[in-house]
Amino acid sequence: MEIAKVGVLGCGLMGHGITQICAQAGWDVVVREVDQEKLDKGIGKIEKQLARAVEKGKLDHNDADAIRGRITPTLDYADLSDCDLVIEAITEDLDGKLAMWREVDPIVKPDAYFATNTSSLAVADQAAVTGRPERFLGLHFFNPAQVMPLLEVVRADETADETAELGLAVGAELGKTTVAARDNRGFIVNRLLVPYMLDAMRAYEQGVGSVEDIDTGMMAGASHPMGPLTLADFVGLDTLASIADVMVDAYGEERFSQPETLRRLVEAGDYGRKSGRGFYDYSGETPVAVDPAR
Ligand code: CAA
Repeated sequence: MEIAKVGVLGCGLMGHGITQICAQAGWDVVVREVDQEKLDKGIGKIEKQLARAVEKGKLDHNDADAIRGRITPTLDYADLSDCDLVIEAITEDLDGKLAMWREVDPIVKPDAYFATNTSSLAVADQAAVTGRPERFLGLHFFNPAQVMPLLEVVRADETADETAELGLAVGAELGKTTVAARDNRGFIVNRLLVPYMLDAMRAYEQGVGSVEDIDTGMMAGASHPMGPLTLADFVGLDTLASIADVMVDAYGEERFSQPETLRRLVEAGDYGRKSGRGFYDYSGETPVAVDPAR
């Protein structure tokens, strides 16, 4: 099936990026949020990125307008009815995702494909609450979706060959490098990346180094573009905490459990960059390391 129209559920950290790249690929995109404020915030981010690309001479003014013109923001699931592919990027909470699919499934045309951008939950659990598990797959994008080259294409037990192929084709259309991953918790990248970030927090708690020195160590010593604590703030500490909980349940290994500092920051509402504070304070011009263990 040809993809002409894509639905994106959620216009937050991941949803706004997915919306933008789908519109850049030439597809019409309907993006749905739960309230107007969240919707405006996400659309505002897309407009800012497009304006920046025009400023830098990377995008023609008319093309930027055309991309924005292909995006329809909505609060209403009914606007997704004629989408060919619906990608969910809502909060990483299984019950919330299941409730959402139960509402969306009867509304969207039966031959459309459904995809979840979950970072850690089983694709099969979500597919099972829809009437189309064979047309359901995982499409896991990385933050920022506009920049990161990878797309993990995840096949659950009931995903049809044709659906898995569609996932790879969508990745190719978006200019992404695709990898096929099994429907295990964390797929490939988070299976390796999450314990690394959590271990960096434990190293910090044990006084191995300061927040800044741990980050600088991994950037200058291992050529990572961001240190692990900056990356954790970037991913969102609330999201990381949810992923850790899912993975420790699935694997039963201590290295996936939430370190005390992460637990405390999340309880305090310090979710990292998106809330303005986490391992760093983002209220000024440049991020300033805070000492969250104290
Ligand atoms: N949206 C769109 N474009 C963005 C962006 C954003 N949020 N952030 C940066 N960019 C663009 C910039 O506009 C710039 O574009 P040009 O080259 O065209 O000018 C380019 O990316 C580089 O940006 P900067 O020069 O500002 O900064 P940088 O070189 O430090 O790159 C970065 C920023 C791409 C985020 C880089 O630091 C990086 O790669 N960090 C690691 C990110 C990472 O590991 N992501 C995976 C997180 S894990 C995940 O997502 C999985 C999960 O499920 C939890």
